[in-house]
Amino acid sequence: MTARHFLLDTDLTSADQAAVLDLADALKARRRTPGPADRPLTGRSVALLFEKPSTRTRISFDVGVAELGGHPVVIDATSSHIGRGETIEDTAAVLSRYVDAIVVRTFAQERLERLAAASSVPVVNALSDHAHPCQALADLQTIRERRGSLAGLTLTYLGDGNNVAHSLLLAGTLAGMRIHVASPPGYEPFEQVVRHANEIGAATGGEALVMHDALEAAADADVLYTDVWASMGQEDESDSRSLVFQPYRLDEKAVEAARPDVLVMHCLPAHRELEIASAVIDGPHSVVFDQAENRLHAQKALLSLLLTEGADGAGGPR
Ligand code: CP
Repeated sequence: MTARHFLLDTDLTSADQAAVLDLADALKARRRTPGPADRPLTGRSVALLFEKPSTRTRISFDVGVAELGGHPVVIDATSSHIGRGETIEDTAAVLSRYVDAIVVRTFAQERLERLAAASSVPVVNALSDHAHPCQALADLQTIRERRGSLAGLTLTYLGDGNNVAHSLLLAGTLAGMRIHVASPPGYEPFEQVVRHANEIGAATGGEALVMHDALEAAADADVLYTDVWASMGQEDESDSRSLVFQPYRLDEKAVEAARPDVLVMHCLPAHRELEIASAVIDGPHSVVFDQAENRLHAQKALLSLLLTEGADGAGGPR
């Protein structure tokens, strides 16, 4: 792995991504019987900086760093000087003197990039307004453990063309998947992301397609995926979005339109009976809690490889 940071899915090559998924599977299999090689962060610390709320990401990184032998340091805006206006550059420079990697959940991708530019240690995107690449790694691990491989599978995402959709487009096409996104007009993923995903797909056999008819998009899907209709920071649009997104609900009709063995996915937290029907999230096709669990394994694999083989992976404390 040659990546220095993991700010966007495309910071990994297809081969890097496969290596992360392979190690994630191995770490998952021997989680209760780890060997010395499974603790590559021994003597190292990782800052977990959260400027937005989180359940899964925060806890899975906290537990994951500890399981890798490292020391996680959780920081949030309200209990640090970030929330009082200390610049992200100064914060990055200071944290770099204490820790061996910085995991960040923040707002604009540009803020994350500024933090990474000022950091002398690897930075990992734990969700920005633009992308959620750690989520996509866990999603791919979940699909691969059910289907054996990823290339050629069709994942249909119903709903908002948001950060999760962006990461699925980029990570999915890196893995050779067809990623179809059905969104209401005006809520599609960014054109530049779709174009980038198709450029990746030209080399991997993957494809990115934006559609507007949810049932047409669901037809023949191997995976049906959805996310909240109003992301963090869009809560004041919840009512208007609930109307616009109704036809994109992941419900029994969408499941019936897909392949008989379709996997149902949601990155959580879910609004039951809004973007996904309770009968579907709790039904036989759902793998949502495997997805949530795999956040732990995929992120442990990512941190292991980034800190031992990545551009800054000196293999020991600085
Ligand atoms: N899926 C996800 O990122 O969940 P959290 O917001 O709880 O971290």
